Amino acid sequence: MLELYLDTDDIEQVKRFTRCLPIKGVTTNPSILAKSAQGLTHTLSQLNTLIGAEARFHVQVVSQTVDEMVNEARQLAALPYDIVVKIPATEIGLAAIKQLKAEKIRILATAIYSVQQGFLAALCGADYLAPYVNRIEAMGSDGVKVVADIQHLLTQYQLSSKLLPASFKNTQQVLEVLKLGVGAITLPVDVTAQLFLHPAVQPAVNQFSQDWHSVFGDKLSFES
Ligand code: G3P
Repeated sequence: MLELYLDTDDIEQVKRFTRCLPIKGVTTNPSILAKSAQGLTHTLSQLNTLIGAEARFHVQVVSQTVDEMVNEARQLAALPYDIVVKIPATEIGLAAIKQLKAEKIRILATAIYSVQQGFLAALCGADYLAPYVNRIEAMGSDGVKVVADIQHLLTQYQLSSKLLPASFKNTQQVLEVLKLGVGAITLPVDVTAQLFLHPAVQPAVNQFSQDWHSVFGDKLSFES
């Protein structure tokens, strides 16, 4: 089963999409939290009430050294929510991931721009890998292929990390990644909204309504 996340801390947007989609939880990063300036404590409390007890939150450390990342990750993991700690898949980050996996803290390796970076994070035991599809494509490379190649290596070496691709600008990128069979994905709000859009849908629904009312007036289906 696909784990579907929203890449936002916007409470109203999470409420909107939780009504109509099976949202597993929310992913944030320091930029998202800085933009809203709501703070993690407020955000997690609100979102947990909204999504429910099963909600999972992927929250990124802001520390810069291994020891500080490990300490921050421990504090995040101790919060009374289902937390996965996001750590950038840098040399420093991988050192922190190795230590934290020895403590069985759940980790998402983030800021993945290359296949090798994703593979190394998986070798270090990261539970989730977040390749940045659109950011890779904005740099002239094939973001979907990076995801596919990491997935191939995970299979080849029987590594248990789950791909959770992030950074999408359009629905085509999302569909191409979903066709690979990834285990999880996080979508920005604007792209999530685009998934519902097709110019033919509303005219079709309007035509059904018009045809019905022309014969049965205000009656409902079971009253006709
Ligand atoms: O957390 C990483 C992800 O949010 C990046 O997305 O849209 O900033 O490229 P974006």
